[in-house]
Amino acid sequence: MNIIIHENVKQFHLCNDSVSYIIGVLPTGDLGHFYFGRKIHDTEGIAMPCNPFPRPMTCNPNKIDDFSPELSSFEYPSFGRGDYRNPAYEILQGNGSRVSQFEYDGYEIVQGKPAIDGMPSTYANSEDEAQTLIISLVDKLTGIRQKLYYTIFRDYPVVTRRVSFINEGEEQVTITKALSMSIDLPDQDYEWIQFQGAWGRERFPVKREVTGGAISIESMRGISSSNFNPFFILKRPTTDEDHGEAMGIHLVYSGNFRAMAEGDSFDKLRVSIGVNDRWFQWPLGKGESFDTPEAVISFSDNGLGALSRSIHRFFNNNLVRSVYKNRPRPILLNNWEATNMSFDEQSILKIAKKGKEAGVELFVLDDGWFGKRDDDYAGLGDWVVNTKKLPDGITGLAQKVRDMGLEMGLWIEPEMVNEDSDLFRAHPDWVLAAPGRDKSLGRHQMVLDFSRKEVVDAIFDMLFAVIDGSGLTYIKWDMNRSLTEVYSAVADSDSQGTIYHKYVLGVYSLYEKLIKAFPEILFESCSSGGSRFDAGLLYYAPQAWCSDDTDGIERIKIQYGTSFGYPIVSMGSHVSEVPNQQTGRMVPIETRAAVAYFGTFGYELDLNELSDEEFEKVKKQIVFMKEYREVIQYGDFYRISSPFEADIVSWMSVSADKKCAVAAIYKIHTPANGSLPRVKLKGLDPDRLYTDDRGQSYYGDYLMNVGVEAYDREEMFNAQFGDYRSKMIVLKA
Ligand code: GLA
Repeated sequence: MNIIIHENVKQFHLCNDSVSYIIGVLPTGDLGHFYFGRKIHDTEGIAMPCNPFPRPMTCNPNKIDDFSPELSSFEYPSFGRGDYRNPAYEILQGNGSRVSQFEYDGYEIVQGKPAIDGMPSTYANSEDEAQTLIISLVDKLTGIRQKLYYTIFRDYPVVTRRVSFINEGEEQVTITKALSMSIDLPDQDYEWIQFQGAWGRERFPVKREVTGGAISIESMRGISSSNFNPFFILKRPTTDEDHGEAMGIHLVYSGNFRAMAEGDSFDKLRVSIGVNDRWFQWPLGKGESFDTPEAVISFSDNGLGALSRSIHRFFNNNLVRSVYKNRPRPILLNNWEATNMSFDEQSILKIAKKGKEAGVELFVLDDGWFGKRDDDYAGLGDWVVNTKKLPDGITGLAQKVRDMGLEMGLWIEPEMVNEDSDLFRAHPDWVLAAPGRDKSLGRHQMVLDFSRKEVVDAIFDMLFAVIDGSGLTYIKWDMNRSLTEVYSAVADSDSQGTIYHKYVLGVYSLYEKLIKAFPEILFESCSSGGSRFDAGLLYYAPQAWCSDDTDGIERIKIQYGTSFGYPIVSMGSHVSEVPNQQTGRMVPIETRAAVAYFGTFGYELDLNELSDEEFEKVKKQIVFMKEYREVIQYGDFYRISSPFEADIVSWMSVSADKKCAVAAIYKIHTPANGSLPRVKLKGLDPDRLYTDDRGQSYYGDYLMNVGVEAYDREEMFNAQFGDYRSKMIVLKA
């Protein structure tokens, strides 16, 4: 890992063993993009891989005749000075102008990686694990300084970026756009993959052809959203799981965002991500500063599989902070699909007891334990236990659960309030609402104004009183609606454009306070399933409920899509009852478990209602997961086939030392008199002899080149098995 400085030509080369990222100062004083990709030798003064010489209808800065901004490649492009592509930032000045001209003003290198105040970001575990280059640019007219942060990590094909704006001038300006990163790539020979969906079908990969014009995805929901994830991939058209170049770009942020790939008429491609500039207006007074969230740019020249594996490792080691970092996750039992809000202490203890008998480690009490929460019309905001349901409170219940030998966890939804709540009656102005306008509801609830510190503090105090002394070891933090009428009763009219972002900062600050008060707690984030599954929240909550869709077959698609950008251990995944509550589908319990293993694993049903035979299967599943969760959750993950393309879908995890592998084969539809398809495994050591769970031994090269049979022969011709079968394979060297 190194940052090479060429003072003479003002070029900077960040590199490690796998990637190079080269930037340099342009004739205008702007920062230009020279290269990002596979590691290359360092040379002083490399040329920009585009020819910025002016052409008809291009403009050039006065007295710089051989430089046309629209033909050049920038690192953080500005608005209004001859580059007609989308800028990375815009600054509205007192006189109404939005033109600014930032010029290079020096650099600094720091060992390690500075954190961002109040925001999540990746970090270095030690000073020698990363180096950060900070480039300063100044707009002489306004006195605004931009600091562009670039971090290169020793062990990952990753560069992170972010920007700070500091007002060193005399006058207030308004930032109306401030992305986290932008790069101008020298060609458009790419495909774009976005992760899109909706409630119940989160993060399905969708490919789009890159050409002239803009491809863009965004959220304006105040949360990152299940509709479009703040992560995308650019890959070469020939790149597949195992070969070829690809680039992944994440925003470490949980609110409104926009990501874009904009092809121009000269075969260049501008790629960017950051906070959405729609209704973003940030006044920046004298002496004030504004920090963008961080963007993580990762690279692979060995296909999408390798890209995902390095993202998984990087996030597990350098983003997740919890005491559960790199720890196998507890197998939990959640009562939501079993009881909804209708329960009392007796019924809860009965479910927990059966969980203990099955081998579960953690019982989680979901929605309905507080205030007047018997349905979703009331109670949110009143974080006081409902003693009609739980006479001994959360502390009393948790003690009883602990006495059984289980840990106890609890559901909360701190950002929300119902009209029918004591909190709303006392503080009707604590919600986001536009003056004189109706309030939109989502699931009959309103959103608290988390841009206000007193609101966050009040919620913290209520939650603290519940959690303190209760011995809870897990919290599921839910968030069940998108934001509307985003307006704060206490902000002045010039500051209303800050509220979306300040809301997100408020969420982060409550996470910080809770983590500081209860460092032992494992947080799982949730937003009507997986509507806020992003790198920002992983910093606080190392796992996230993937989806309310717990159907074993739909979950293959959801977890497959999620695995492109997020670690296996971050995916909340449970076995639930059949017929499935979301699809009505009947998936065998073996297959439901075979899918849920590839995540945090748990159950979301009343185990008392299973047949004895099924309950015995559950016990075995838990024994299995306890034995192999380390390999599954932290091993190298290989996607073998796609549920969007194949009827026999497969994936596997391999331990770092390649001595153990766990593979799953899902057989969605059963043919009559079908062929005997084989699945070629991946990631094994070709020279090692592996023994499977039936005692048969094969070399790794055999398993990877000849493969294993998807069906057992006896099963192939037996119609009683039906659809949705699965097969787990454990291999030990
Ligand atoms: C959301 C969550 C569910 C459950 C309910 C409770 O829908 O995604 O898992 O917690 O809320 O109301």
